[in-house]
Amino acid sequence: MKMKCTYLGLRRGGAAVLNRCMRKPGASMISRTLSTNLDSHFGLLENVISHAEEEELVRYVSSLLRRKRYEGNHWDSVIVQYKELELHEARKMPERVEDVLRRVEALIKQSYRSEIGQLQPPHVIDLDALGRIGPHIDSIKHSGGVLCGLSLMSSRIMELAQDAEPQAAGTSPAILRYHLPPRSLYFLEGPLRYDYTHSVLGKDDFDSKDPLFSAIAMAKDNESEYKAAVQRRLSIVFRDFPGENGDKKTTLGLRLINNVEN
Ligand code: OGA
Ligand code: MN
Repeated sequence: MKMKCTYLGLRRGGAAVLNRCMRKPGASMISRTLSTNLDSHFGLLENVISHAEEEELVRYVSSLLRRKRYEGNHWDSVIVQYKELELHEARKMPERVEDVLRRVEALIKQSYRSEIGQLQPPHVIDLDALGRIGPHIDSIKHSGGVLCGLSLMSSRIMELAQDAEPQAAGTSPAILRYHLPPRSLYFLEGPLRYDYTHSVLGKDDFDSKDPLFSAIAMAKDNESEYKAAVQRRLSIVFRDFPGENGDKKTTLGLRLINNVEN
C-alpha cells in the first residue's frame, strides 16, 4: 500500500488559544521562529490502512462500545463526550481486525531508530461530534516514551502546547497544530511527549487566524464549515509500558519508513 509521510508545518498560536488552554495569560510564549528541531518529534504517516480496513475496525469497535454512554460532560472534564475501551488479548477479535492491529504495531516499531519493546494493548477513544480532548500530558506512571495514534472516521486537529516556560525567548514556539486525517498514524516523542501538552480540538476551537483549519473545513476558512466537519472520531492509541524507552530527556528518534528519512 502506498504511504505518504507528512511533516506538517508549525502553526503559530494566538493569545486566545493560550487562554483557552488555561496557560498563564500574558506569558510571552509565542515565537515566530520555526523550530525544525521540534517538528522532528512529530510524525504522521497517512493511509496506513485501507478504507475497507478502517470500516472493519470501526464496525468491530463500535459493536464493543454500543452499550456504553458518552461520558465526560462536566465543564472541567479534560475529555468531553467520549467512550473508551482497551483492546486486550482476552477479547476475541475478528482475525482481520487482529491482522490490521498487528501490522500497525509492526509499522510503529519500524518507525523508531531505537529498538522498541512490547506495546500495551491498544486503547480506543471514541469522541462524538461534540467531543474533544483537552490539553494534558500522558502520565509517566502509565506509559513510556512511545505514543502513537491511529485516527479513524473523521479529521481533527491536534494541538501541542509548551507546558513549561520556554528556555529562551524565540527558541521554541508555544503552540503547534497538526491535521490528523482518518487512516493516518501520528507519533509524539521526546519533548512533544513529555514537555508539551496535547489536545484534540473540537467544534468550539476554531481559530480564524490559522489556515490549518481549512484542512478540516473543506478548503474554506469558515467557522460554520469547520463546525459541520467536526464529526465523530475514533482513535486507537498505542503506548509502551511505563519506564520503557526513556524518560523526559530521551528522544527515540522517529524514522518514518517508506518515506523521507528524518
Ligand atoms: C489520550 C489521547 C489522543 C487521541 O487518550 O491520552 O491523548 O488521538 N488521545 O485520541
Ligand atoms: Mn494523551
